[in-house]
Amino acid sequence: MCGIVGYVGDAARNVSALDIGLDALARMEYRGYDSAGIAVVRPGELVVEKKAGKLANLLDQIAADGGGDSSRFAGSTCIGHTRWATHGRPNDVNAHPHVSFDGKAAIVHNGIIENFAELRAEIEAAGIELTSETDSEVAAHLLALAYNAGPTAGDFEASALSVLRRLEGAFTLLFTHVDEPGKIIAGRRSTPLIIGVGDDEMFLGSDVAAFIAHTRQAVELGQDNVVVITRDSYRVMDFDGTPAEGRPFTIDWDLAAAEKGGFDSFMMKEIFEQPAAIRDTLAGHFVDGRVILDEQRLSDDDLRQVDKVFVVACGSAYHSGLLAKYAIEHWVRLPVEIEVASEFRYRDPVLDKQTLVVAVSQSGETADTLEAVRHAKTQGARVLAVCNTNGSQIPRESDAVLYTHAGPEIGVASTKAFLAQIAANYIVGLALAQARGTKYPDEIESIFDQLEEIPAKIERVLGLKGQIHELAEELGPIPTMLFLGRHVGYPVALEGALKLKELAYIHAEGFPAGELKHGPIALIEEDLPVVVVVPSPQGREILHSKIVTNIQEIRARGARTIVIAEEGDESVRPYANFLLEIPASGTLLQPLLSTVPLQFLSAEIARQCGNTDIDKPRNLAKSVTVE
Ligand code: F6R
Repeated sequence: MCGIVGYVGDAARNVSALDIGLDALARMEYRGYDSAGIAVVRPGELVVEKKAGKLANLLDQIAADGGGDSSRFAGSTCIGHTRWATHGRPNDVNAHPHVSFDGKAAIVHNGIIENFAELRAEIEAAGIELTSETDSEVAAHLLALAYNAGPTAGDFEASALSVLRRLEGAFTLLFTHVDEPGKIIAGRRSTPLIIGVGDDEMFLGSDVAAFIAHTRQAVELGQDNVVVITRDSYRVMDFDGTPAEGRPFTIDWDLAAAEKGGFDSFMMKEIFEQPAAIRDTLAGHFVDGRVILDEQRLSDDDLRQVDKVFVVACGSAYHSGLLAKYAIEHWVRLPVEIEVASEFRYRDPVLDKQTLVVAVSQSGETADTLEAVRHAKTQGARVLAVCNTNGSQIPRESDAVLYTHAGPEIGVASTKAFLAQIAANYIVGLALAQARGTKYPDEIESIFDQLEEIPAKIERVLGLKGQIHELAEELGPIPTMLFLGRHVGYPVALEGALKLKELAYIHAEGFPAGELKHGPIALIEEDLPVVVVVPSPQGREILHSKIVTNIQEIRARGARTIVIAEEGDESVRPYANFLLEIPASGTLLQPLLSTVPLQFLSAEIARQCGNTDIDKPRNLAKSVTVE
């Protein structure tokens, strides 16, 4: 939700803060692309450019105004923003940065200032006219009011702290003032902010991608922390000005990992990275015959005390949680509830010290999941985070964490992170089974071995891309699409439908195949495309035979069936208009394979529908840091 960047360089070296800031914004655009803006801070002057729509619109405007070469933009400090609108439409006026009434202070903001209405009324009462519909603009005026008069007059730092202390909600705010052009002050509460420490230059970003091209040295800020950066220093404190410590770390992925690597979209690159994502997520978690978690701040004894598991997550992460339920209940014989995180705390779920809450989140920032974690902790439950982003808020507030090592996921629609979440959830299940003795060590080893065979099998599924391209062409324009699955095929159906909605903006629904005749079958009409995920004919035969019947039912009513089935499963061939064959695997592991063709399918249909920018579907943002 909104990308934020800040830069302070050496004025004597004539660095172009504008160029560095725009480059950082390009890397932050996946977080929000309703509008973008940048402010170059010069002695006594702010140069602000902002524009609705994607970053390209801002770049065009800056070029029209003379571009980076013109003296108009010369300056060594800047702040920038890519927006995902919450308060106020995505137009030029509501775009950030926002400038104070006296034209001397500029701010960018990520999050929601919950008490903005009250602050707005106060500012208006002081005779200041607000120009935007945003909650953010108040921060610029409050800064100027504090700086211009009263106890903090003339003191930029004290003024910024006084503003931060007045705000309620979740926010990352960057403050600049023309009187101190070589300084940015930034504060955060519940939304992310990372410092990049360069050589005679300092960066701020919503995540490390903002500055990875310049430095690998980063510092993470704690909750309610403030940082003051200049070109050669950073100083961390709390909102009262009491010195605090950031957590320095070295970024372990490089620029290439965040570039497209020859693919035409990040999403396509990330689909092809899935074998590595699974391999890296499994690595080091089965050593000397034992399952090992990462930051295991829960002992085996703690795991033995657990009498119920809750999985909380949103979107694709929620679908991975549905799969965790199938695996954990089967392997551990513990009841597992799975809940959409945004519903969790409002429902007053029954939690106590013996409840294990597994919070699954790629970003580790999702506000709904974070609030679910906080609620679980107030109820005394233990929380285990499954997360892809080192040092993000959800793992920080959890008792233990298992990292998915999918690498940076830039495409807004989740692909490799989703598969890595499934693998990680299964590791959690196996760790519970081990601690509680519900599986013999050799059974755990055998499941782990099967998991380790998955990356090579995904490589084979990736070979279906060409066939799926042809399939999408043959399908032609479609108004809607249904997805059916049974058992673990059901979450895969939900994920397939979500991907199609996100990427192609086509209505799609996922159903348990058995539910079909309880209503959804009324939707079936001539030529309607229906995807059916068929379980292995080996193992749970009953599942297989039931779904073959379901395929016949929909074919009889004129649907075009797109069937995903195991190689060699001849029984489905007569009923499949399109057959996509995947390698055989254990029943619970099949989603790691059957999801992949659906990712390709949604991307191909999206292209056919004219959505050429599948990395940034409309209205979405990668990290949803508001509830
Ligand atoms: C779908 C998608 C979203 C996320 C959801 C949770 O393609 O990407 O549904 O899965 O917003 O995000 P995280 O995992 O960051 O908590």
